[in-house]
Amino acid sequence: MEKVKKLNWGIMGAGVIAKRMANALNKTPQNHLYGIASKTPSRAKIFADENGVDQTYSYQELVTSKAIDVVYVATTHNFHFENAKLALENGKHVLIEKPFTVNANEARELVRIARKKKLFLMEAMWVRFLPAQKTLKKMLKNQEIGEIKECNITFGGIVSPKYETRLKDPNLAGGVTLDMGIYPISFICNVLGEIPVEIKSMTRFSDLGVDEIANYMFRFPSGCLVNICTSFNLHMIDKAIIYGSKGYIEYPQFQVGQRFTVSQHNGTNEIVNKSEVHEPCHDNGFVYQVEEVFRCINEGRLESEIISLDETVKIMEVMDKMRNEWGFKYPFE
Ligand SMILES: NC(=O)c1ccc[n+]([C@@H]2O[C@H](COP(=O)([O-])OP(=O)(O)OC[C@H]3O[C@@H](n4cnc5c(N)ncnc54)[C@H](OP(=O)(O)O)[C@@H]3O)[C@@H](O)[C@H]2O)c1
Repeated sequence: MEKVKKLNWGIMGAGVIAKRMANALNKTPQNHLYGIASKTPSRAKIFADENGVDQTYSYQELVTSKAIDVVYVATTHNFHFENAKLALENGKHVLIEKPFTVNANEARELVRIARKKKLFLMEAMWVRFLPAQKTLKKMLKNQEIGEIKECNITFGGIVSPKYETRLKDPNLAGGVTLDMGIYPISFICNVLGEIPVEIKSMTRFSDLGVDEIANYMFRFPSGCLVNICTSFNLHMIDKAIIYGSKGYIEYPQFQVGQRFTVSQHNGTNEIVNKSEVHEPCHDNGFVYQVEEVFRCINEGRLESEIISLDETVKIMEVMDKMRNEWGFKYPFE
């Protein structure tokens, strides 16, 4: 791939998250938001006017436009596969909102197409690129709290009206695991640098038949045990606590928080050292993932080492396995 000076982006789906991405693209000089595509032309027009986008398109026009280098898929989960496939087959680099796809079969197929066509592809797991998560990962690797043994994460909230339909509708591949549970799963895989080898889970279904509360228990190859509780209709305290042989790290507002504390003990229950780490972050955290996409494409890389395609597929497999155990399939699967 040739070095690029600037990337022209097109967004598929003129919804809620697309606005945040538009804002991030407008803040990174090497990236330019050129096109917005919507199934509803009037939506695309309003979006373009509000976000300073040059051109409105249908999906087909967007992926065949010579002006577009990268397509950001910002539609509901059920459409990710077909939208990303369309873009890849038309020679565009692709960034897909989380979850990458609805299941691992779809994920593997997209990876196959991207590799065959030598195009860049990435899941928009933006929190991995935030300074605090990067520092946390480094500190764990440096054994600041010794050998990592255990982690508890709670992550949930009462879904806001703007996300409610999408989260609760099985036809849009709603449910807490694909929408929210994916964050703590991806977080722990990232900071440990491993994929769980043993997986146990339970869920409670909503009236509309999607998972609304879910608990996951993982064992990682290193031996680390992890408990995750997540829900889209309980006000939960977003927090990760990671326990090592020499202490623990508490990470409130887990993932997006800029601060976490490191407590070290002396081999007993006495804490001998407690410090706070503060990693300030851009007011729109999407900027970091946009910069990563630019960096990769500019350097001729087809994927990011921070979230590799193999890892994305493996995480989809973890979620498939749990849904399988619950007997939970989406109507279109
Ligand atoms: N990274 C984050 O922090 C974050 C936060 C929220 C959401 N997300 C992810 O971003 C993606 C989009 O979420 P969102 O909240 O932006 O979704 P949204 O606003 O509800 O919808 C996004 C787009 O999907 C299409 N769509 C929505 N509902 C549809 C329906 N009933 N039938 C047909 N098409 C429909 C529309 O595309 P058209 O405009 O083409 O019609 C819409 O503009 C999801 O993957 C979600 O998980 C990420």
